[in-house]
Amino acid sequence: MHPVRSVLLAASENRWMRENATRLPVFRRAVKRFMPGERLEDALDAADALRRQEGIATILTRLGEGVTQMTEADAVTEHYLDAAGQIEQRQLDTQISVKLTQLGLDMDPARCRAHVRHLAARAAAGGAMLWIDMEQHQYVHPTLELYHAVLAEHRNVGVCLQAYLYRTEKDLQAIIEAGGAVRLVKGAYKEPASVAWPKKVDVDASYLALAKTMIGTDAGARGFRAVFGTHDVTIIDAIQQHAKTTGVANDAYEFALLYGIQRSVQQQLARDGYGLRVLISYGDYWFPWYMRRLAERPANVWFVARTMFAK
Ligand code: FDA
Repeated sequence: MHPVRSVLLAASENRWMRENATRLPVFRRAVKRFMPGERLEDALDAADALRRQEGIATILTRLGEGVTQMTEADAVTEHYLDAAGQIEQRQLDTQISVKLTQLGLDMDPARCRAHVRHLAARAAAGGAMLWIDMEQHQYVHPTLELYHAVLAEHRNVGVCLQAYLYRTEKDLQAIIEAGGAVRLVKGAYKEPASVAWPKKVDVDASYLALAKTMIGTDAGARGFRAVFGTHDVTIIDAIQQHAKTTGVANDAYEFALLYGIQRSVQQQLARDGYGLRVLISYGDYWFPWYMRRLAERPANVWFVARTMFAK
């Protein structure tokens, strides 16, 4: 792993940094590149602008993870229920994506499951999907267990799988068989070599192999839905080419990219008529998430350094 990436990922898990760094003006200025603002309203305004100006649909997520009080997890659920109402009121084409450790997975898995069921039912009433993010490797098993249980009742729920994990091929097959939905990403956490490929070249190869399975005939026949969460233009291009040569229609899969990253790629995908969503994050608990974004491209650290000296 690149040494800068390693330091940034370690910082993302540092408690002092998490609690104090968000107050530092340098980070507050720099993070604006990746999120339109801390309030739900900022995210809704950004979603509205993307839809009106560029015809791009969106996904919203409120930053936060590993909550330690169940009352907090209950409040997050209420927040998302309110957000779903505001999305409908503003007639946005916007989905919601949640982190299970923000909904109480660590403290009370049964109540966490009830929260996800509630949010899935609310999303279904508005004709929308609900997405579940994937966190560190120790959460993969409980996340997928919960996912399959909720999927059995609500077909509008999808889950993120990480291509860097050795186990993902098996997990993907199970979701294809259940006719679920997967957003495939490379994986954003610092994971040991016992569970994840340490080299980027292997992660990229894994991503492409999994992507091919996701748009294969077996997956399509079972009603499985494929979403590719990546900014990697080589991979995006390879997926499009593979789909073309194997006769998979463009609307059989979608892409998802993060707000503020590879803007020209986002605009090109939209112009070419591919299914595309931009994931917009908001909330005041952004430090670990922001460190993971910097780690994905260590050159981003120069951007922070430049911001430090900007007026
Ligand atoms: P890669 O890191 O190889 O980047 C390819 C190119 O994209 C880079 O060369 C650079 O040009 C550009 N790029 C990528 N990241 C950038 C950045 N931060 N700043 C500037 N340029 C950048 N992870 C996870 O573990 N659980 C999850 O639930 C999710 N959810 C999720 C949803 C969506 C919609 C996306 C797009 C991503 C996630 N991720 C995630 C994050 C994912 O695991 C991964 O860390 C990032 O997407 C970066 O990997 P890429 O596939 O973009 O490739």
